[in-house]
Amino acid sequence: MKAIKIEKFGGPEVLELKDIEIGKPGPKEVLVKNNSIGLNYIDVYHRTGLYPLELPSGIGLEASGVVEEIGAEVSHFKVGDRVSHASAPISGYSEKQIMPEEKLVIVPEGISDEVASCILLKGITSEYLLHRSYAAKKGDKVLFHAAAGGVGQILCQWANALGCEVIGTVGSNDKIEIAKKNGCHHVVNYTDTNFVDEVEKIVGKNAIDVVYDGVGAKTFEGSIECLKIRGMMVAFGNASGYVHTIDVKKHINAKGLFFTRPSIMHYTVTREELEESAKKVFEAVLSNKIKIEISKKYKLSEVQQAHIDLENRILKGPAVIIP
Ligand SMILES: NC(=O)c1ccc[n+]([C@@H]2O[C@H](COP(=O)([O-])OP(=O)(O)OC[C@H]3O[C@@H](n4cnc5c(N)ncnc54)[C@H](OP(=O)(O)O)[C@@H]3O)[C@@H](O)[C@H]2O)c1
Repeated sequence: MKAIKIEKFGGPEVLELKDIEIGKPGPKEVLVKNNSIGLNYIDVYHRTGLYPLELPSGIGLEASGVVEEIGAEVSHFKVGDRVSHASAPISGYSEKQIMPEEKLVIVPEGISDEVASCILLKGITSEYLLHRSYAAKKGDKVLFHAAAGGVGQILCQWANALGCEVIGTVGSNDKIEIAKKNGCHHVVNYTDTNFVDEVEKIVGKNAIDVVYDGVGAKTFEGSIECLKIRGMMVAFGNASGYVHTIDVKKHINAKGLFFTRPSIMHYTVTREELEESAKKVFEAVLSNKIKIEISKKYKLSEVQQAHIDLENRILKGPAVIIP
C-alpha cells in the first residue's frame, strides 16, 4: 500500500510517497482502510522537527475510513465499521493503517468520511479549548487568531453558538468574509493593522475575557495586551513560531492573568474523554451548530503541495487528502 514517509526533517520535499508492507493488526489493533485524511498544522511541526519524531516516520494524525481487519482481542469494532481517529501512531497519510482500538471512534450516520477526517482533531481541539481549558460562556469577549483557518472556522462557529462575542484575526482581506461566515462578529486583518489597537476600538482597552492563540510568536505579546484583568491566555499553537519563555512579572502578574499551553493529548487522556469529546463534536456538526466546508482536496501524491499551501497561508479552512 502507499504511504507518505519522512526520513529527515525539512521542507515539503522530505515528504516521500512509498510502497510499503502494512502487516497484520496485533491483538488489540485494527486495520483501517483510510478513505480521507485530515491535513493539520501539527503535520508541519512533525515534518520540520519542531515536534521531534523518531525517524524514519510516517506522518499525519487524523484520518477516517473503514475497518478491514481486527485483532483477536478487539471488542469495540467489527469489520465494516466506519471509524475515525485524531492521534498517534503518526501514520495517517496512508492508504491503510494499523491503529490501537482505544484510539478509534465510530463515525455516526450523517457524517461523511471527508467531513469526519477534518473535524476530529480540529473539533476535539475546539471542544476542549472552549469548554475545558477555559469554559467560555454567553457574553464572553473571545479573541481568536487565524479565524479563517481549520481550527478557527470550527471554534468561532461554536463560540458564536455559545453566545460569545467573537473577534477573529486574519492575515489577508480575502479571509475576512470567510471568518465572518464562520461565526466572527468582528474581524481584524492583523497583517495590515495593529490588532491590539483594532481590538481596543471594538471592545475597549483590557476587555477580552479569553484569547485562543494558535499563531504563537507573532501574536503573543499583543494577545496579552488585549486581555482584561484576570483574563485567560490560552496559547495552543505556533504557526508563526514557538513561544519559548514567558516573563511572569510582565506577562502574567501585571494583570493577574491565567495562562495555559494545552495540547489535545492532555484532554483525551482516557478512552472516556476521547469518546465524550468526539460525541460533542459529532453532535455539534449533526445539529448544524458547526457547518463544515472543505476548502481543498489533495491526492496522496500531492501532499508536498498541500504543505506548501498550508505554510504559505493559502488554504482557507479545513483541507483533506484523499488516498
Ligand atoms: N494544542 C492543540 O491541541 C492543537 C490542536 C490542533 C491545532 N493546534 C494549533 O492550532 C493552529 C491552527 O491549526 P490548523 O491546523 O487549523 O491550521 P490553520 O489555522 O488552517 O493554518 C494556520 C494559520 O495560521 C496563520 N498564520 C499566522 N502566521 C503564520 C505563519 N508565519 N506561517 C503560517 N501560518 C501563519 C495563517 O492564517 P492567516 O493567514 O489568517 O494569518 C494560517 O492559515 C496551529 O498553530 C496548530 O498547531 C493546536
